[in-house]
Amino acid sequence: MLAMDYRGPYRVRLSEKPMPQILHPRDAIVRVTRSCICGSDLHLYHGMVPDTRVGSTFGHEFCGIVEQVGPEVENLKVGDHVLVPFNIACGQCHFCKQGLFGNCHESNAQATAVGGIFGYSHTAGGYDGGQAEYVRVPYADVGPTIIPDWMDPDDAVLLTDVVPTGYQAAEMAGIQRGDTVVIFGAGPIGIMAARCAWLFGAGRVIVFDHLDYRLEFAKSYGPAEVYNFKEVDDVVVFLKKTTDGLGADVAIDAVGGDAKGNFLQTLFGTKLKLEAGSAIALHWTINSVKKGGIVSVVGVYGPTGNMVPMGNVVNKGITIRANQASVKRLLPRLIEHVRLGHINPKALITHKVPLADIADAYHIFAAKLDGCIKPVLVPNNG
Ligand SMILES: NC(=O)c1ccc[n+]([C@@H]2O[C@H](COP(=O)([O-])OP(=O)(O)OC[C@H]3O[C@@H](n4cnc5c(N)ncnc54)[C@H](O)[C@@H]3O)[C@@H](O)[C@H]2O)c1
Ligand SMILES: [Zn+2]
Ligand SMILES: [Zn+2]
Repeated sequence: MLAMDYRGPYRVRLSEKPMPQILHPRDAIVRVTRSCICGSDLHLYHGMVPDTRVGSTFGHEFCGIVEQVGPEVENLKVGDHVLVPFNIACGQCHFCKQGLFGNCHESNAQATAVGGIFGYSHTAGGYDGGQAEYVRVPYADVGPTIIPDWMDPDDAVLLTDVVPTGYQAAEMAGIQRGDTVVIFGAGPIGIMAARCAWLFGAGRVIVFDHLDYRLEFAKSYGPAEVYNFKEVDDVVVFLKKTTDGLGADVAIDAVGGDAKGNFLQTLFGTKLKLEAGSAIALHWTINSVKKGGIVSVVGVYGPTGNMVPMGNVVNKGITIRANQASVKRLLPRLIEHVRLGHINPKALITHKVPLADIADAYHIFAAKLDGCIKPVLVPNNG
């Protein structure tokens, strides 16, 4: 079968790989019909994630047709069209039982923090991902969810990550009715967080990025007030001024370790790799939220340390909440939001690309070319 093949930073191609096999009675094999490239894949692509092995296949956002099921998978049958959450979760451990499907204790033998994730390096379990014609899905009786008849597969594939992550960003922010919410990042995740902030009762939603085409999109899709951080002198002062000197009620980091906007953070975090990515967006959330406010972090950082203004967290009495999205926990209510038209996920898809053109798709998405917001890969047999 054909699959994405990581060759080292900034180098991906499509290669012939062996067909995945059922290795455990709870596995399924899925023939991929759609798979996305995510901002999280860019951390891998940029060489920011430790133990990203040459020859691995990325892709944690995919849907497809069940081709084969192991003998213990009773809730799926061959031919079902399923969307597969990006988290690999056993459904039975201490953490899965609490709905923390992103922190499964069984699916990732390498770590005590994140659980297994499809196609996300050996720090997230070393599983091959879905940017391929076929993929092995472990614990297939837990994650995969049958796509309702009425749902467009383009909507379904965004329910594997983008919608739940944007939603959880807003949920973790503990938004109260009328709150001012500031979001850093107008990628798919920040845009979706802006949309979802309204579902939690936000009174004002502000989005920062430096890419005007994405800000334009966030402005209409959120809707949101949008600002280019390169065009304001000081983001924190600017935000204080526009919130009566108090700061936003809640602040969301939807950027993570690839953040731009501060020379020293870029030098230490992304060039010299002395910290786990540039933490400037995180600084901005902490410094621009009001005293007693909540900072919600879905932006991804590496496993080691970052220079974070901890003194400000303590002295302002800030609550920081962060996690990988718990996709399975959120799916029932998000499917309902899509059905009722509260969220239109597929509107974010700007590029539909044959899997064969994967190298171009990575380049376009990573370099933010051609108005790209969200690219979807479609295998030949998809
Ligand atoms: N926690 C989770 O479960 C989860 C799931 C999916 C994605 N993520 C993470 O969310 C983040 C965003 O994902 P995405 O797919 O939207 O990525 P993306 O790369 O498409 O978007 C990131 C955006 O942030 C902007 N940006 C860069 N520096 C900034 C700054 N200092 N302030 C404001 N904006 C800045 C970029 O221009 C870009 O538009 C990534 O870190 C990704 O790994 C987390
Ligand atoms: Zn993703
Ligand atoms: Zn588990």
